[in-house]
Amino acid sequence: MDRKQEIQRRRTFAIIAHPDAGKTTLTEKLLLFGGAIQTAGAVKSNKIKKGTTSDFMEIERQRGISVATSVMGFEYRGLQVNILDTPGHKDFAEDTYRTLTAVDSVIVVIDVAKGVEEQTEKLVEVCKMRKTPIMVFVNKLDREGKDAFELLDEIEEKLKLNPLPLSWPIGMGKRFQGVYSLYEKKLVLFTAHGKQQENDVQVFENLENEELDQMIGDGAAEVLREEADLITGVYPEFEVEEYLEGNISPVFFGSAVNNFGVRELLDCFVEVAPSPGQTLTEEREIDPYEDKFSGFVFKIHANIDPKHRNRVAFVRVCSGKFERGKAYKHIRLGKNLKFANATTFMASKKEIVQEAFPGDIVGLYDTGNFKIGDSLSEGEQLHFTGIPNFAPELFKYVENADPMKSKQLAKGLDQLMDEGVAQLFLHQYTNRKIIGTVGALQFDVIQHRLLHEYGATCRYEHASLHKAVWITCDDAAVMKAFRSRKAKNMAKDKHGNDVFLAETSWDLNSTQELFPEIQFHFTSEF
Ligand code: G4P
Repeated sequence: MDRKQEIQRRRTFAIIAHPDAGKTTLTEKLLLFGGAIQTAGAVKSNKIKKGTTSDFMEIERQRGISVATSVMGFEYRGLQVNILDTPGHKDFAEDTYRTLTAVDSVIVVIDVAKGVEEQTEKLVEVCKMRKTPIMVFVNKLDREGKDAFELLDEIEEKLKLNPLPLSWPIGMGKRFQGVYSLYEKKLVLFTAHGKQQENDVQVFENLENEELDQMIGDGAAEVLREEADLITGVYPEFEVEEYLEGNISPVFFGSAVNNFGVRELLDCFVEVAPSPGQTLTEEREIDPYEDKFSGFVFKIHANIDPKHRNRVAFVRVCSGKFERGKAYKHIRLGKNLKFANATTFMASKKEIVQEAFPGDIVGLYDTGNFKIGDSLSEGEQLHFTGIPNFAPELFKYVENADPMKSKQLAKGLDQLMDEGVAQLFLHQYTNRKIIGTVGALQFDVIQHRLLHEYGATCRYEHASLHKAVWITCDDAAVMKAFRSRKAKNMAKDKHGNDVFLAETSWDLNSTQELFPEIQFHFTSEF
């Protein structure tokens, strides 16, 4: 197979959902279809469960699991499907945002009873910013839930997507009989024991056919006919281009735990989901079909083996071909590096990568060379964009609690920030270090990891701040005036950029009004 075919047959995506909607279950069923795992239960949930163990233990457990399941790949109908795992806990949402920079499409899972939930809204917003094509799977149809039309309205209102049902439920909960695939014109019936068999699926072109009444009962048949009519009246025909451009989102219904409706989703997905596309860099657009290799780091996992303090940097291949043992240029450091034991982390096995193509993810063992967002190439200066930090909303001053270990603390903080655990700011007025995060758990993670990995102890002090936003201004004099007026609220980020620390939302708004020439940025990319 040549490189072009290799690229075209790749489908790299992430499943996103509010915790408990069924992401792990759906992932597992997809892997079962692909033969990547043999038994149910092989994919462990990466949720942080509250309960008997402390949060730390849960975090550690979760980190272990998420390395093993960072990328789950399988072959299906001659296609290479790569599922990128995303953390289940909302405090790690920023990790999820970054993972979304490395995928070509996403599947959103929604719980039929709960409808669109908060975390899904945020994640979909990020996908929309990037124009990532989205498919929706409404899960748990074996339970009572919201009416399907009501859910479509919710998807439209809350997620600002244009949903297009490609399958349609026949009843739900106790009355759930299956789905009608509007896409394939097939009737897929749900059997009592819940295992979807091949012979439960039948081609059913014409819903007017009286056989339908015998199969699902008069009442249900009538409802299905009416609803199908309504759908064809209200929704446009499915056009793949519209989906690829992010203008419409196909919706499927099913029950992941019963493996129901999953094959319909997967079959449509592999057929229409995009193969790797272009990637933006500051310099130019990168085409996946270019000869030369390029890629960027979107995730770093530390402490795979606590004894060796090693880390794995996850690189998305964007163009050319990644080859084992070949030297590639680390752009930020300006040096050539060789990776003899680059790895793929598949659900079932860990393998040394001989070669990898655009759309693939390779894990590079690292001793501290990489930061999130770093670029690799065959020499060309490339800086990938679209991997921003988000304005943090939780803050603490960090102090060294062991004067003998100040070097360790500095190093630990530095490396943890490179991994994207949190952001460090230097308060210009007091010269104190402030850690800003998106989720509260990160503070525990940092303290715990500083101690266990770097032997450093830190103490936190509450910082009463609302948000840290990046500021820029074309007029140096205005900027200077702003800096001196707001001296007590000025900080620098790790790269020396100016940051305004707003104390309250009122403070932020009024400052914005007072200084119209200053641009306030809510992500680090501007
Ligand atoms: P998540 O990764 O999105 O957080 O969700 P996960 O797959 O772990 O599923 C959350 C719960 O919902 C699990 O139950 C799972 O079995 C259940 N579930 C998933 N799909 C369906 C479905 O189609 N129908 C029904 N009725 N339930 C579904 P749990 O009790 O939390 O865990 P478990 O002990 O069953 O594993």
